[in-house]
Amino acid sequence: ARPLLIAIDGPAGAGKGTLARRLADYYHLAQLDTGLSYRAVAHKLIEKGWPLDDAGHAIEAARLVDLGHLDRTVLSAHAVGEAASKVAVIPEVRRILVGKQRAFSRKPEGAVLDGRDIGTVVCPDADVKLYVTASAQVRARRRLNEIEEKGGHAEFSEILADIQRRDERDMGRADSPLRPAADAHLLDTSEMDIEAAFLAAKAVVDDVLAKRSKV
Ligand code: C5P
Repeated sequence: ARPLLIAIDGPAGAGKGTLARRLADYYHLAQLDTGLSYRAVAHKLIEKGWPLDDAGHAIEAARLVDLGHLDRTVLSAHAVGEAASKVAVIPEVRRILVGKQRAFSRKPEGAVLDGRDIGTVVCPDADVKLYVTASAQVRARRRLNEIEEKGGHAEFSEILADIQRRDERDMGRADSPLRPAADAHLLDTSEMDIEAAFLAAKAVVDDVLAKRSKV
């Protein structure tokens, strides 16, 4: 059978990452969090003290990104995500990273990729496209819970404002804005826990697999 390719898009904090991991485990697929590649570019600029709108250095950093060696712990910092959304507006940075992400999507065992433009730009031919959302309030609440579970402190209103700013930047940019592909299945997780979201996504994938085995 042709390898299965799943594309997951949605705004920051909607639960794409957790869902992608669960689906990759369940269907034995390779998994790529494409946000990490934009984060790697941003991290390099921050480390070197270069401005985030320095396209020349950002492009150089994008060329050096190795998808097999992205350190999630280093890149997960909130400030890096914020900075990533700034370098992600540079078209040449996107072009370079999209090329690497597409190569990854052709893994013989199949793959699940998550990000902002997977169903629309990176893998328009994906077998299954999911657009995962949740209200900004719910996403802010989840983020606050994560921070507090790690013993940290934050203001709900600040987290909410951050999320809204990031949404605006990701949905409002000219190149590859965040939006659902025409053929994406919408999954609003505002009222779902991880298990319910997984089961809903699994139902969509199983349906596609069943139809595929009939042709
Ligand atoms: O998903 P994550 O929070 O790690 O993504 C960080 C930023 O990288 C996003 O806010 C977005 O601006 C950018 N990004 C993107 N396209 C992707 C994945 C992430 O523009 N496919």
